[in-house]
Amino acid sequence: MDRPKKRDVLRAVNSMSCLSENGEKKGAERIRAVNSTSLSLYDSAHSLDGRSGWDTPVFSMKDSLDPNPMVTEAWEALCRSQVYFRGKPVGTIAAYDPASEDALNYDQVFVRDFVPSALAFLMKGESEIVKNFLLKTLHIQGQDKRIDRFKLGDGAMPASFKVLHNPIKETDTIIADFGESAIGRVAPVDSGFWWIILLRAYTKSTGDLSLAERPECQKGMRLILSLCLSEGFDTFPTLLCADGCSMIDRRMGVYGYPIEIQALFFMALRSALSMLKHDSEGKELMDKIVKRLHALSFHMRSYFWLDFQQLNDIYRYKTEEYSHTAVNKFNVIPDSIPDWIFDFMPLRGGYFVGNVSPAHMDFRWFALGNCIAVLSSLATPEQSNAIMDLIEARWEELVGEMPLKICYPAMESHEWRIVTGCDPKNTRWSYHNGGSWPVLLWLLTAASIKTGRPQIARRAIDLAEARLLKDGWPEYYDGKSGRFIGKQARKFQTWSTAGYLVAKMMMDDPTHVGMISMEEEKHMKPLLKRSSSWT
Ligand code: GLC
Repeated sequence: MDRPKKRDVLRAVNSMSCLSENGEKKGAERIRAVNSTSLSLYDSAHSLDGRSGWDTPVFSMKDSLDPNPMVTEAWEALCRSQVYFRGKPVGTIAAYDPASEDALNYDQVFVRDFVPSALAFLMKGESEIVKNFLLKTLHIQGQDKRIDRFKLGDGAMPASFKVLHNPIKETDTIIADFGESAIGRVAPVDSGFWWIILLRAYTKSTGDLSLAERPECQKGMRLILSLCLSEGFDTFPTLLCADGCSMIDRRMGVYGYPIEIQALFFMALRSALSMLKHDSEGKELMDKIVKRLHALSFHMRSYFWLDFQQLNDIYRYKTEEYSHTAVNKFNVIPDSIPDWIFDFMPLRGGYFVGNVSPAHMDFRWFALGNCIAVLSSLATPEQSNAIMDLIEARWEELVGEMPLKICYPAMESHEWRIVTGCDPKNTRWSYHNGGSWPVLLWLLTAASIKTGRPQIARRAIDLAEARLLKDGWPEYYDGKSGRFIGKQARKFQTWSTAGYLVAKMMMDDPTHVGMISMEEEKHMKPLLKRSSSWT
């Protein structure tokens, strides 16, 4: 059998990493053509034995041509999803599903959806698209943002943007959505946090400090954080938000102080702290950040943390306690504890609950917030381990047949009617209401590696590999075990492919986790220790 020439295989590797030979951009058509070449080259390269002398420092068969065809397919899908603005890649579309009749807004670049794409590109050494994205969204932040007659804050970042190409005039223009077009008409609080977190990941991965140091990036960070750090009527360091302002962007009772936003807020604050310049404006903000981080970590670690011991304490709470000596500070009425939690809570393990507000504890478990809590070290090392313990102990419920449940459990019947407003897309065990989202695989993998428990990620990746490619990279799965492709799930959902690639690359090279994880700061040690799983 003829072996492919080394030059040809290198060309194939370049195709997999979305660059043409001379480094120019590839249009969607061109990408498709090049990719079919890369596939056939891949096939012939794949049939070579592993010890063929190709593993040179310049070119590693293992790294560049993963023997897993799913990885090749995922890279192809990711390349195809790239969006160009005036010839430069600036992001990836949410979904590229040719079978879907109505694109809705899935043909747009979503800020949160681009994060796993960006990480995949960074891990592959392709930082250009990430830099372009960061600058483009920063530019969009500067637009006049209005919903009807109301002007949004200067720091607000878009949920998504779309590039409009005029083939006659040969011009590209951008339209952005700050929530005014989204289903719930809610501004995405998470976008600004993800932007800051991604800027840090870019800086860590490339070693290029100059982007974060640019005056416009410094200003962008200041504007985002000023929105969150301004004084108001708050009595808590957590951030108050409306329903639907993050990944769960429809009414799901995720308002008040949802864990996802608090964890991302914490991580963004820490990321900004490491990138802000010590000039007068930066310094002032840094002082505020340090104080807020201190209060936020104490609050979250003390009041959001739930394990067997803490549940038992709440179960026995007295109510109507007045003054600062109160133990039940939020006046949680024990009768409001849902039945399911008593069986669900293992003796070993714990998690940050969905929400803590006055007389309201949302006991649901949310994947994204808990994984970000591990990665950002909002969770102490003991809490991080307990979070992983719980995932292992409740594998059937939280992972089932497809990683990973967005939240657990689902709301049904009366509760679903009242809380979601009878949302037909969010019926029990579907979509945001207990659906399983393959994109969350990268977060679970990163958290597993950070806590030194990669076998958890391995198990989850095996499950994803059994189905994702065959099913056409669905956006989400339905059912109590995540067995069914979601009712209205898009196929070729970009973050499902990117999430898988990121998980694979982190397993291959765990040092990649460094761009998205943070060590614990010594001064943030908790004052309260109450977890049975800590001992
Ligand atoms: C859905 C998801 C949201 C995602 C968007 C684009 O609205 O709820 O999290 O960003 O689709 O994929």
